[in-house]
Amino acid sequence: MVETTISVIKADIGSLAGHVVVPDFLMELARKRLKEGVQKGIIKDYYVANAGDDLELIMTHHKGEDNEEIHQLAWDIFNEGAKLGREKKIYAAGQDILSDTFSGNVRGMGPGSAEMTIEERKSEPIAIFMADKTEPGAFNYPVFRMFADPFNTAGLVIDPNLHQGFIFVIQDIKQSTPHFVEMRCPEEMYDLLALLGSTSRYTIKKVYRKDGLVAAAVSTDKLHQIAGKYIGKDDPVAIIRAHSGLPAMGEVLEAFALPHMVAGWMRGSHIGPLMPVGLKDSRCTRFDGPPRVVGLGFQVHDGLLLGPVDFFEDVAFDSTRQRAMEVADYLRRHGPFMPHRLDEESMEYTTLPSVLTKFEKRFSDQEIVPTGKTTDTSDSAE
Ligand code: 13P
Ligand code: 13P
Ligand code: MG
Ligand code: MG
Repeated sequence: MVETTISVIKADIGSLAGHVVVPDFLMELARKRLKEGVQKGIIKDYYVANAGDDLELIMTHHKGEDNEEIHQLAWDIFNEGAKLGREKKIYAAGQDILSDTFSGNVRGMGPGSAEMTIEERKSEPIAIFMADKTEPGAFNYPVFRMFADPFNTAGLVIDPNLHQGFIFVIQDIKQSTPHFVEMRCPEEMYDLLALLGSTSRYTIKKVYRKDGLVAAAVSTDKLHQIAGKYIGKDDPVAIIRAHSGLPAMGEVLEAFALPHMVAGWMRGSHIGPLMPVGLKDSRCTRFDGPPRVVGLGFQVHDGLLLGPVDFFEDVAFDSTRQRAMEVADYLRRHGPFMPHRLDEESMEYTTLPSVLTKFEKRFSDQEIVPTGKTTDTSDSAE
């Protein structure tokens, strides 16, 4: 049987009026180039979307994962778009393009990618989740709930085809070389949670059924780690298969009913609720957020994409959004205080080293009692 590969490759190559939304001309460019990609036989089908300021290329083909031609196609679109964006002086044009030369795969070059190769089942419903203003670990909580939490996924208890559980492949993204570990659930659930709870370090790369069928793929690209300095968050994507021995689509979506806390938001340095939204609300505004996720559903057939259905546009997620905004109000009142602001290590912007340098000479091994005299700072001393 012919295998179909779903590749979602994304990058922030510039946005409109701040880190808000992908401009239309970039979406049009992507559609045009991907259509040509179909005509040239590089890809089978495509859909272009945006998650806030991130341009999302959803592609299907029969060339397998990490395929050079597919990655090149995405890379060329991002570069052409960035060039056009620079001409129009859009905001942060070329933000996620960190290299001048292409080396065969977008991994490690700025863009993010999630890919999965499947043998199409009798019916193949999939969901693509795309988030903005957050990091790959943002998917740990919902993907765990989909595939491992019986309070979320009834099928784990009542469907004989799910009852045996799933295998999670976890990546330690703090390592400079690839580091993966496989954990079986439910047998090793507590070990799995020990890792997955550390969302800034351990992220889910893939989920498999115990018989080896692939069920989920998440992008784990850590942008600021690649660049060595802050240039943007690693806004992630995930591909999830549903039904027939996998969680039902309703169980997949149920995992987003709680607007859970994620790292990102303003300057990639704050925690905030992940708010599920329809494509029409896929734009980040308040305090550059709050962090958002869009979810599109497709049926894959013979490598083609039927759809999408814009899942979170549904009124069933209104109360989740309402709660997210209440949480956002509450958190914002903490201003620069942790835990709304991330800890020093996780912050991607920080003035702390320069503040400490400025005050270096004023630190003392004795408790200081102010004398009322003018303080002698290194800045003002003669
Ligand atoms: P259908 O009876 O429509 O196939 O739905 C089954 C199901 O599992 C719903 O979650
Ligand atoms: P992006 O990573 O979405 O570009 O956001 C960057 C930022 O600093 C938002 O405040
Ligand atoms: Mg941006
Ligand atoms: Mg973004």
